[in-house]
Amino acid sequence: MIGVLVSGTGTNLQALLDAGLPVAAVASNRRDASALERARHLPTKTFELRDYASRTERDTAMADWLDQQGVRIVVLAGYMHLLTSAFLDRFPNAVVNVHPSLLPEFPGARSVEEQLAAGVAESGATVHLVDEGVDSGPILAQERVAVLDGDTAETLHARIKELEHRLLPRVVEELCAR
Ligand code: GRF
Repeated sequence: MIGVLVSGTGTNLQALLDAGLPVAAVASNRRDASALERARHLPTKTFELRDYASRTERDTAMADWLDQQGVRIVVLAGYMHLLTSAFLDRFPNAVVNVHPSLLPEFPGARSVEEQLAAGVAESGATVHLVDEGVDSGPILAQERVAVLDGDTAETLHARIKELEHRLLPRVVEELCAR
């Protein structure tokens, strides 16, 4: 069973659902994440940092809840917060993230803008195992896309997301089968 963590629009969550993967529950660090609307048919819960005394307490509560929903694999689909060991140790080698660059190049939240500013000819999508760093765990799969003349952050990110929506379900399916 898969648990998905979201903070934003949730197009990657939608790709997992459309692929028929066994998503059991969706958690968010933001009550206003529109991704939650894609999961109305599933158990959802919000874990906002301000409701907890520390990140460790928040992450422990989130891991407890996912565990209760039967989750064994966790997918970060646009989850914009670091996870502590209090969470990661509960799902060893089973937390994956999708990121819009060819990691290890351009980690972080402003990756697409930074790639354009650096003038790279090629970008891509990466799915990797999650550790406590910023987009830094072992890489599981990558796909490339050309940066086009006139690309803006919006147009480039949209083409990267097309890759993500193919790559992420494929990798998660492989993890489920292992
Ligand atoms: C994706 O580009 C993902 O790589 C990054 O955040 C974005 C999330 O998009 N980590 P969405 O919420 O899945 O539409």
